[in-house]
Amino acid sequence: MSPLRKLIIVGGGGHGRVVLDAARLAGWQVAGFIDRDRTAGSEVNRCAVLGDDALLEARHGFPEFQFIVAIGDQRRRRALGDRIRTTGGALATVVHPAAILSESASIGPGTVVLALAAINANARIGAHCIVNTGAIVEHDCDLADGVQIGPGATLAAGVIVEADGFVGAGAVVIPGVRLGAGSVLGAGAVAIADLEAGAVAVGVPARIVRRV
Ligand SMILES: CC(C)(COP(=O)(O)OP(=O)(O)OC[C@H]1O[C@@H](n2cnc3c(N)ncnc32)[C@H](O)[C@@H]1OP(=O)(O)O)[C@@H](O)C(=O)NCCC(=O)NCCS
Repeated sequence: MSPLRKLIIVGGGGHGRVVLDAARLAGWQVAGFIDRDRTAGSEVNRCAVLGDDALLEARHGFPEFQFIVAIGDQRRRRALGDRIRTTGGALATVVHPAAILSESASIGPGTVVLALAAINANARIGAHCIVNTGAIVEHDCDLADGVQIGPGATLAAGVIVEADGFVGAGAVVIPGVRLGAGSVLGAGAVAIADLEAGAVAVGVPARIVRRV
């Protein structure tokens, strides 16, 4: 657990509101949102909108705060997270108190783990990831930076998801399968074989329908 418990959330959309709930329940003091599409001084779920992306750099006045980028889009989330880090800001790791985490699992900065998610022994989750509500990440899974696991998805033991991979809601990946960088597994799909980088696959068993 970080010694700093003050948080700014980047992105006040749907995912941002879910992260706000998780952060408050986890004991963070949330100062507000940074959001380029909302007016400074307005509120999102009783939490102030502080301003737009110009506030991202820690040197602009929030040195004691950590940031979490709560944006679903993979590339934008990672880009904003990298911008915060390279300008000296600290990225938080936000874990809902109702998530279950093995003590041997590791979770990178800028990653959120939401309610009822379970992350089992020796799983490794990179930076800028989302493990969404009710997702299961079984033992020895390895998730690179920028990965998103949708609500209720199940990654069986030893699954590898390369950078910016996306697993849709309720999808299942059988043990040991590797999902390539930037690949997308559709909601409800079952991946029984490796998926190449940039492939979009749907169905049971998952078949590639296009490439990103
Ligand atoms: C896989 C996905 C990304 C594809 O989106 P897309 O590229 O816009 O694809 P389209 O909607 O054009 O669909 C392409 C084809 O795949 C089919 N398809 C799309 N998603 C599918 C799914 N999850 N399962 C089965 N078939 C699916 C479509 O019916 C379509 O078939 P057709 O060509 O025969 O008409 C999207 O449908 C999806 O499942 N996203 C998951 C979202 C999610 O779980 N988010 C969780 C965050 S809260």
